[in-house]
Amino acid sequence: MIAPCNGVYKPEDDSYMLLDALLSLPLAGKRVLDMGTGTGILAVNAALRGAHVTAVDINPLALDCTRRNAEAEGVWVRTIQSDLFERVDGTYDIITFNPPYLPGTESDPDYDPAWSGGKDGRAVLDRFLVQFPNYLEKDGVLLLVQSSLNDPEKTDAILSDLGFVTRRISERRYFYETLWVLEASRCP
Ligand SMILES: C[S@@+](CC[C@H](N)C(=O)[O-])C[C@H]1O[C@@H](n2cnc3c(N)ncnc32)[C@H](O)[C@@H]1O
Repeated sequence: MIAPCNGVYKPEDDSYMLLDALLSLPLAGKRVLDMGTGTGILAVNAALRGAHVTAVDINPLALDCTRRNAEAEGVWVRTIQSDLFERVDGTYDIITFNPPYLPGTESDPDYDPAWSGGKDGRAVLDRFLVQFPNYLEKDGVLLLVQSSLNDPEKTDAILSDLGFVTRRISERRYFYETLWVLEASRCP
């Protein structure tokens, strides 16, 4: 059980969708990179399944929270404070990312950098998409949360251009948006 840490944010449905997708993969001995780890919900659960986990976040509070959750669960997770891959090294079997995807800018009253991804919701995501292939093993897998609010077709097109095949492995519909977990791997 991962406790939400006050001052960071509360894991939402999309976190649990991504968690289900991650836990459906064999994780023991795998190198997992959890980008934008937040509370560490994905990172800590992967470590509990025997993965070697690196958790990355731009927000130091998130990393404190992740470390506390890891300690509470008796597992070790490597934490790196970084703007995306700026301070990340190595390659990984699995990369997870639940990006800040809600359209919104700093001038909006409900702006929250944990969830707001700029005007079109893609400010962080588009930078991530061009960087992650350098850190993914040849036969590695990307698990990514996608929303109908931030042009998921554009994500499919970018990944296709980068030589990846994608499939939507889960879907949840709300009155204001649909969420998917997208799995991407390199074309054989
Ligand atoms: C939607 S939350 C997801 C948190 C967690 N992975 C989950 O599923 O519950 C997005 C996370 O990405 C982090 N983040 C935002 N911009 C980032 C960036 N440029 N580099 C690394 N992390 C970033 C935020 O601080 C936040 O913790």
